[in-house]
Amino acid sequence: MGFVGGRSKSEIIDSFARYVSPAKAKFFSMVGIDFVPARREGVWYWDLDGRRLMDCHCNGGVFNLGHRHPEVVSTLREAVEELDIGNHHLISEQRARLAEKLAEVMPGDISRTVFGVGGGEAIDFAIKLARGHTGKKKIVYARGGYHGHTGFALAAGDEKYKRPFEPLAPGFVEVPFGNAEALERAVDSETAAVLFETIPATLGMPLPPDDFYKRVREICDEKDCLMMVDEVQTGLGRTGRMWGIEHYKVVPDVIITAKGLSGGIYPISATCFKDGLDDFMSENPFIHVSTFGGAEIGCAVALKVLEITSNESFMNNVRKMASLLSNELEKMKEEFDFLEEIRQKGLFIGIKMVEEGFGPLLSISCYHNGILAVYANNDTSVMQFLPPLIISQEHTDYISENLRNALEMTSQRRDMVEMIRAML
Ligand SMILES: Cc1ncc(COP(=O)(O)O)c(C=O)c1O
Repeated sequence: MGFVGGRSKSEIIDSFARYVSPAKAKFFSMVGIDFVPARREGVWYWDLDGRRLMDCHCNGGVFNLGHRHPEVVSTLREAVEELDIGNHHLISEQRARLAEKLAEVMPGDISRTVFGVGGGEAIDFAIKLARGHTGKKKIVYARGGYHGHTGFALAAGDEKYKRPFEPLAPGFVEVPFGNAEALERAVDSETAAVLFETIPATLGMPLPPDDFYKRVREICDEKDCLMMVDEVQTGLGRTGRMWGIEHYKVVPDVIITAKGLSGGIYPISATCFKDGLDDFMSENPFIHVSTFGGAEIGCAVALKVLEITSNESFMNNVRKMASLLSNELEKMKEEFDFLEEIRQKGLFIGIKMVEEGFGPLLSISCYHNGILAVYANNDTSVMQFLPPLIISQEHTDYISENLRNALEMTSQRRDMVEMIRAML
């Protein structure tokens, strides 16, 4: 061992501020959070000073299986004994195995995969796919969503994250999320694709109307463009089904997955699509390459993640825990007048409160009550709540008790909301 705890907390924070990000260090100091992740195991994160937090942020799903899942860790250990990154120009046994498994767990006839390293890269490729296949340019996406920090993904993101970096790629048109009429008006014969997070996390997890995706599918078919869903957060069992879109009984043309596919251990992402959409690559199969995308060690890890996640008893546990939490959260909603709505699909949960600023206040209160959870950046009236998918009833009991205490603290400090709003 020897990675954790070689220095004092204040030394680490000072070094981070000096060499990594003074702005982040200042932000955390301003909100009174001096958490330096040290030991991590299962649902828990330990601060360097020994205090533990239940990880209900999970880095947007990276830690769906908890931290350092033993089977994932031992797969990585075995993989490094035999493999390395691989060479992305060549045929790969590991990439083929993982792509075969992805085809098995994907809905409908989605059977092909191009690998990447992170979610943004996988979104970028999806947009290349849409433009390359259709020969059209326009990409329609939801206002206030988030698809990543890279080129095309950023262009499909919220205004405030892209303005300083303009000019971005042209051809991107935003619509309000969940509004089929607005979508119908925006999509035309020039549209290459419609791209939505199945439930947009950064926008505060607004659930679309039940028939929304059926309409999206129809509109895409009518206008001959691709329907693409970003399942970077909603995928891999998070909503109680393998893919969030399955709740809406619609098969898109493209599904993007990342975060949790890594098992929290080795970065990997995948753009999965229907056969034939990459026809434009047949002349030059090397027109899109990614040196580290689908690294062979990462493929072994991701295959293990899919084996665990596609197990029926795993998914039943997600549904059972979701139902226990749903009961508790509904009770809390009755107890606290500033709770407006519980937005929930499985263990993908948004706690919507009455005003902007309540999300960060509740996140801070959670931190003081043994829970790590983060607010939605593009709607600060919401706190995102993503417990690991491996929780048991003992953990939901912990959540009920400590989240209730955090809500109590939020209630007592609600006069701080205005100050927090001014800070953001
Ligand atoms: C829904 C969604 N899509 C895409 C991304 C981008 O993923 P990455 O940060 O791995 O590039 C994120 C990251 O938070 C995300 O939440």
